[in-house]
Amino acid sequence: MNETQQFALRASGIKRTFQLPKERLFGPRRVLRAVDGVDLHVAPGKTLGIVGESGCGKSTLGRVLIGLDQADAGTIEWNGAPAGAHTGTVQAVFQDPSSALNPRLSIADSIAEALPALRAAEREARVEELMALVDLDPQLMHRFPHELSGGQQQRVCIARAVASDPALILLDEAVSSLDASLQMQVIQLLRSLQERTGAAFIFISHDLRAVRGVSDWIAVMYLGQIVELAPAEEFDDQLQHPYSVALRSAEPSLPSDEFRPERIILEGDPPSAVAEQQGCSFASRCPVAQPRCREQTPELVATDSGRAVRCHFPGTLQLTRRAPEGVSAP
Ligand SMILES: Nc1ncnc2c1ncn2[C@@H]1O[C@H](COP(=O)(O)OP(=O)(O)OP(=O)(O)O)[C@@H](O)[C@H]1O
Ligand code: SF4
Ligand SMILES: [Mg+2]
Repeated sequence: MNETQQFALRASGIKRTFQLPKERLFGPRRVLRAVDGVDLHVAPGKTLGIVGESGCGKSTLGRVLIGLDQADAGTIEWNGAPAGAHTGTVQAVFQDPSSALNPRLSIADSIAEALPALRAAEREARVEELMALVDLDPQLMHRFPHELSGGQQQRVCIARAVASDPALILLDEAVSSLDASLQMQVIQLLRSLQERTGAAFIFISHDLRAVRGVSDWIAVMYLGQIVELAPAEEFDDQLQHPYSVALRSAEPSLPSDEFRPERIILEGDPPSAVAEQQGCSFASRCPVAQPRCREQTPELVATDSGRAVRCHFPGTLQLTRRAPEGVSAP
């Protein structure tokens, strides 16, 4: 991407902390660093997937990027202008469609709510168009949310999100509550919607397979920071960061998978995002940590292969092929 290209989203130096209650009345103030210095950009019509374990800061980052929450530091641009300059530029779809939809509004009214500027006749036509765009049967128009399946409800939420023709859509665990076959259907729908609308997506999930299925770029987050960033089609080749390798090894295999890696179990819990950390934040769980890792904090560094990695010893931890069922390792 060249420097003059206009991004749907460009963010740099994003930090978001939360003040936690004191543990003791006269104890020290406690500050949790939920997002700890994130730089990223997304080109129009492209998807950045963000993956990482629970609590690593994905949703906080997503909310900040679309202006639902305020960063403590950093800058955010939407379509080349400071975030917030144009309302309607960004939209979001979250995990639970039933709580996102007003139970008292019909499907048509729910979608029409996202089109306040149109006159009644135009609005009706646009609602029909949007329902067709997300593959919803027009006969569902006058039904209520509780009469739809979870997958259909999520399609309504997606129709509402694309109604204003946004430049950027945040999808935070948007397919996580759906079963595997519905997930794939919604992922395909998102891909075709992106081709037709040219919107950029930020797709957040703890599920690497879902992220791989929809993304152009994949960012792996650990404790509020991006630790590896790679083009999705090359993501699995030569994973560099030990945490990405462990995440890949934990991905449930399908019968069709040619390569099934041996699971790498990470010992211990992530360190607290409250304590001041010296060195690499993954050092306490990293199977290949060296003394230097506890002394020097690694930066996110671009490699020759076009990925960026935050590790002093990238590529040291490798995946190994899992022994076939019934064959025990020597
Ligand atoms: N309003 C808040 N007040 C205090 N702490 C918060 C608040 N919101 C989030 N956090 C903390 O910030 C950290 C990041 O939370 P976040 O919800 O962004 O994680 P996540 O990666 O989206 O997790 P999950 O996969 O479970 O959705 C967590 O430690 C969480 O407890
Ligand atoms: S810097 Fe060291 S501890 Fe951190 S991920 Fe790399 S090898 Fe592991
Ligand atoms: Mg979340």
